[in-house]
Amino acid sequence: MARILITSALPYINGIKHLGNLVGSQLPSDVYARFMRATGHEVLLICATDEHGTPAELAAAKAGKPVDAFCAEMWQVQKDIADGFRISFDHFGRSSSPQNHALTQHFAGRLADAGLIDEVMEKQVYSLADGRYLPDRYIEGTCPNCGYENARGDQCENCTKQLDPTDLVNPRSAISGSTDLEVRETKHLYLRQSKMRAPLTEWIESKTDWPILTTSIAKKWLNDGDGLQDRGITRDLDWGISVKRGAEEWPGMEGKVFYVWFDAPIEYIAATAEWADATGGNWERWWRTDKGADDVRYVQFMAKDNIPFHTLSFPATLMGSGEPWKLVDYIKGFNWLLYEGGKFSTSQGRGVFMDQALEILPSDYWRWWLVSNVPESSDSDFTWESFQAGINKDLADVLGNFVSRVTKFCRSKWGEVVPVGGAYGAAEAAVIAEISERLDSYQVHMQAIELRKACQELRAIWVAGNEYLQHAAPWSSFKTDPEAAAATVRFALNLIRLYAVLSEPVIPDAAQTMRAALGAENAEWPDDVATYLDGLTAGAGISVPDVMFAKIDDTAREALEARFSGGN
Ligand code: 2FM
Ligand code: ZN
Repeated sequence: MARILITSALPYINGIKHLGNLVGSQLPSDVYARFMRATGHEVLLICATDEHGTPAELAAAKAGKPVDAFCAEMWQVQKDIADGFRISFDHFGRSSSPQNHALTQHFAGRLADAGLIDEVMEKQVYSLADGRYLPDRYIEGTCPNCGYENARGDQCENCTKQLDPTDLVNPRSAISGSTDLEVRETKHLYLRQSKMRAPLTEWIESKTDWPILTTSIAKKWLNDGDGLQDRGITRDLDWGISVKRGAEEWPGMEGKVFYVWFDAPIEYIAATAEWADATGGNWERWWRTDKGADDVRYVQFMAKDNIPFHTLSFPATLMGSGEPWKLVDYIKGFNWLLYEGGKFSTSQGRGVFMDQALEILPSDYWRWWLVSNVPESSDSDFTWESFQAGINKDLADVLGNFVSRVTKFCRSKWGEVVPVGGAYGAAEAAVIAEISERLDSYQVHMQAIELRKACQELRAIWVAGNEYLQHAAPWSSFKTDPEAAAATVRFALNLIRLYAVLSEPVIPDAAQTMRAALGAENAEWPDDVATYLDGLTAGAGISVPDVMFAKIDDTAREALEARFSGGN
């Protein structure tokens, strides 16, 4: 049994996320966590809202609410949506927690003691029209790297380059749109990331098993880019973690806060401390290599724009502290999910947002399509046609239909019990052989977090049952050889029990329905398939579940296409 710490990138508090955000971290982290728990490992799955910085302030201002009240409300909204999608976080924390305030200030103190923080008079953009400094997202303009016209002051979302507001070409205020801006001097703290180049390079070079996407982005910023230039870690904002050196005041830094990207990843640790405080758990055992965390495998999930912060900035903070913190072992990064060939857009109402998705259809429908089309090696495109096909063919025709046919036929001939029947024969042996092989491959893909391939195997395992049933045709053999028909149904009922357990990481609600129908609530992950498919014995009670998956017809699909096409 291994101990696996899993973190999902922290969603910004500023609004409800779309399906692209869901598939880029929370959902795959949950699938992996569920698989690892089911196969006997000790797992801790951690996430939290990312509450500081300009995204939070701007969204609260737009909502006309004080920022702390806005964050508290939105945390609950995001938590409820994650629960609705059955994301099995062990803890969903808040980066504004007291634990994160203390830890962030602690890290700043340690880094300062290690000579890794400089106090510098920095040039910041000041907006005369707004009467304030414009850090990060308060300022927009053209990216000096790729020419994208709506780059933000902290990062260009087009080319992922980390920016400073003064880098932008043709800058404008994101509050008022004013271009009446001037550059003023103000004191800030800089993390001397450049001094960490050697240990970071050595560490990244040692990660030979990381996905190409992760390593290529990390190396790009390490070697060719300026990802390791010294970075300002404080801001002239009201909302955030006040700048302190450990528990001490930091002379000259009164009224300033830490930069959101400095405190957000520290919240992975702080959220684990929140979890420990809430449950009596021991967070240090997951994070301090001097307190047992050297046994932990730490896996992070995120979309590709987050990779530079997790491969360079956060490790620089942890290593620079000089303390024995657990560093990430594996970073699973994702490409983008497109919506009907273009970008999701909050402002234009283009694409499906997480709350809307749950109003339209149950979470398993989304989970299945998203996980089986997760943008692993390239971008994926959500289209309603593809979604309709995935639900109708895979879930309704293959899995749902199998469960329904088998349980209904059983009830009609033998009642709600597993029939006795004869021994299994050659047809069952062939299915056992095929599923054994596919199960190995399913597990290998899940362990390697290759979720698309894992879903292909899972689907093939469902298909094997359907084909078996079609050939064995117990509805025909019942007339001439009821013993054989009973054996077929007993085997097929056992297959449903197996499907319940294997499908649980991807479609947990349907898995629960199948477990309940077979009285298999406590069934565990299979070891030997042949033994497992003899596990449900004659006489055990079963029931016929309600329709598990309803098909999406063309009229419904067209209505959804029209509703989410944008142009609001
Ligand atoms: O890009 C984002 O949505 C960020 N809120 C991710 C933060 S991840 C972590 F480091 F906190
Ligand atoms: Zn750019």
